[in-house]
Amino acid sequence: MLVRARLLSFLRRPQAVDDRSSYRYEEDGGLLVEDGRIVAFGPYADVRAGASGDVEEIDHRPHLVLPGLVDTHLHFPQMQVIGAYAADLLEWLNTHTFPEECRFVESAHAARIARHFYDELIRHGTTTAAAFCSVHKASADAYFAEALARGMCMVGGKVMMDRNAPQGLTDTPGTGYDETRAVIAEWHGKGRNHVAITPRFAITSTPAQMDAAAALAREFPDLHIQTHLSENHDEIRLTAELYPDALDYTDVYARYGLLGPKSLFGHCIHLSEREADAMSEAGAVAVHCPTSNLFLGSGLFALKAFMRREKPLRVGLATDVGGGTSYSMLKTLDEAYKIQQLLGERLNPLESFHHMTLGNAEALSLADRIGTLEPGTDADFVVLDAAATPAMALRMEVVRSLADELFLLQTLGDDRAVRETYVAGRAMKSRL
Ligand code: GUN
Ligand code: FE
Repeated sequence: MLVRARLLSFLRRPQAVDDRSSYRYEEDGGLLVEDGRIVAFGPYADVRAGASGDVEEIDHRPHLVLPGLVDTHLHFPQMQVIGAYAADLLEWLNTHTFPEECRFVESAHAARIARHFYDELIRHGTTTAAAFCSVHKASADAYFAEALARGMCMVGGKVMMDRNAPQGLTDTPGTGYDETRAVIAEWHGKGRNHVAITPRFAITSTPAQMDAAAALAREFPDLHIQTHLSENHDEIRLTAELYPDALDYTDVYARYGLLGPKSLFGHCIHLSEREADAMSEAGAVAVHCPTSNLFLGSGLFALKAFMRREKPLRVGLATDVGGGTSYSMLKTLDEAYKIQQLLGERLNPLESFHHMTLGNAEALSLADRIGTLEPGTDADFVVLDAAATPAMALRMEVVRSLADELFLLQTLGDDRAVRETYVAGRAMKSRL
């Protein structure tokens, strides 16, 4: 297949809004795809000349083709929690989220929600995500089975949680360990699936369960680890009470060997300097979830300040559905922009689009396969239309630069701006 469109792919994080060397842009571009991989990316005329005469050609001009969007943290069993009214994190978890997650003990329910989950990702142009399943193995089975059926590259894990949650939503140190091992054995490396070790957060795991997570991390050092860190002041206080020997919240995870370069920590809003240093030294990833942080009133993540520290943090951007209020990475970066505004910082549109593509692929340590249009990588990409709605089309009439077009997409765009989503070279959105 040969795709003709305006092509944009980042090479590294842009240093400024006019950092032309940070990306590759082809105004009349060609993307040649074979067997689910990108085999050529360049000016249309050149790619056309190198392709066989009978190759199927798809013309997406005047739209923009970018690498598929990547979401580094969300919750598959929270599709029916999104937008639930609550004061803050702990109330939201206890009144809405935990009761809802209990339903995923049923395989049929998990399978039904999994179909909706992937439909929604595709609709919003997200081709890879890292998600928490529920405590039930059935939820992880449904999650990975559906990813396999759709050929998507997904990270996910059965949540480990053995206290401070209702009956029906807890495992034990032993079953959490055994079932995580079973999920790894059945799903890791099958298709494009990546299993993550997933203790929910310190409050819902006993020290004995953290020991079990530590054992898994030692046995499977290449796996992702995902959890939550420093989201809310009450959460931080309760964690300190439950782990009195730890230096701070980050140290709880560090003590159990869970702080490393494949560790993804949702939120990280209220980190001390010591914690940020420890994260940086370990190469751990702080995952910013802007719509969630605003919705739950959790706080303002110091994205720009974290990235320019003497010991910088690796960061990911994520929806955190259902604490987050949108599946759209465009809307997510729009809210991230506004949070930086409140902190007196500026997130430029090139940086935003880098974050939702290559940056998030790097956060997941998957940039050798996704997040880029470079030849040799997987053919996951999106087609974006900056004139998708009447309001966008009107604004687009006076937009003159690529950066302004991206900023318009981010500020006014959502799933309506996603014309098509390709996974491993297959058009997915138009088939929903
Ligand atoms: N901390 C522990 N569990 C959760 C969750 O499901 N959502 C959010 N936002 N924070 C959490
Ligand atoms: Fe979360």
